[in-house]
Amino acid sequence: MIIAIYLTFINLYAFFVYGLDKHKAVKNGEKESERVPSVSVRGKSGPGRRGRSGSRSGEGDRGSSGVRPGGRSHTGRSAVRRVPESTLIALAVIGGGPGAFLGMTVFRHKTQKKKFTRTVPALAVLWGAFIVFCLYQNFHLTVTEYKYEADAECTIVQISDLHNQFFGYNEGALLKKIKKCGPDMILVTGDVVDSGKTDLRLAKAFFKGAVKIAPVYYVSGNHDYALMEECVRDAYGEKKMYDFISGADAGLMNAIVGDEKCVKQSFGAFLKDIQDAGVVLLDGKTAEFGDGIILAGAYDNSNLAEYGWEDDPRLKILLSHDPGMAESYKQSGADLVFAGHYHGGQIVIPGKGGLLSPNLTFYPKYCGGEYDLGSASMIVSRGLGNSALPLRINNYPEIVVVKVGKTE
Ligand SMILES: [Fe+2]
Repeated sequence: MIIAIYLTFINLYAFFVYGLDKHKAVKNGEKESERVPSVSVRGKSGPGRRGRSGSRSGEGDRGSSGVRPGGRSHTGRSAVRRVPESTLIALAVIGGGPGAFLGMTVFRHKTQKKKFTRTVPALAVLWGAFIVFCLYQNFHLTVTEYKYEADAECTIVQISDLHNQFFGYNEGALLKKIKKCGPDMILVTGDVVDSGKTDLRLAKAFFKGAVKIAPVYYVSGNHDYALMEECVRDAYGEKKMYDFISGADAGLMNAIVGDEKCVKQSFGAFLKDIQDAGVVLLDGKTAEFGDGIILAGAYDNSNLAEYGWEDDPRLKILLSHDPGMAESYKQSGADLVFAGHYHGGQIVIPGKGGLLSPNLTFYPKYCGGEYDLGSASMIVSRGLGNSALPLRINNYPEIVVVKVGKTE
């Protein structure tokens, strides 16, 4: 998102600076020289003498006009200080290539200067290609399908680490793709919101759309957790915050929803709203799905609760955020674990795997995919959005689908 904002800004800025400089050139009386190729003027000084501006195009290299600041323009008025040509080129170099080229074309500015006609279109193509590449890498939704053998039968869609990434109005493109997968349940393994660029309206729109497709089960990630802490601190103050959190046996998100003061805070109200819409807040809780499946949620930054389900013959599914706690998940007695958090390593190096974790450690162990934990299988989603590093390369946003059933 930060890169998208930067590129949008720099291109708009480049476009307007080219327009501004053209305006200044016109004010300095250089309008025609921009449009009509200059010709040698025969006069007292003989053939080939250049015009007053000292340039074939009528634009000198100094400040683009060739008229010294404070000097006089062709019209005899005080000359306006022009934008240096080096600045105009630099804007195209640092990402504003398409905007600069558009500015050149629309305002017919610098269109006869080789320095510009050779570099700016090339930079426009280069940056344009980079922008398209980044957009495709970060917004092209993919589906990864797994099969899991069990007596129960269902199709599970897992969504993880959305981080308020925008996939169409009210996350429409994402919801459409989820619906196409035909889920019986949707598991959300944390970081739907991003604590650094929180957009609760967008997150709410996602949840409200998702519950219309299938039952939704949600556990918090580290970003959701940070917002929950903030919510409790705003409701009770720094001192009582830790008491409240340590007393939240059934998971912090459920404690917040059940607390009058907390639901008055923005994140508390958000949790209450999505719960009222039908989302199951699963942190520290269990839930039954049909006859053959039991779900449990482990909340972030906490030890796994004891669910007492070791002898339960049903398929035991555990939702958590951080796959780094795989050993605890194994001991929980779960059969199938869903996690996320590592964003697929953000940049995937062919043959080596995901490069970075969100806390910037190299080649994290559980980047994305299916892992055999011995007594359990763990599916780690590559996620959909970004946090610290705002770019994915060779690592498309991912919707995970797990087809549970008997093998034929
Ligand atoms: Fe995340």
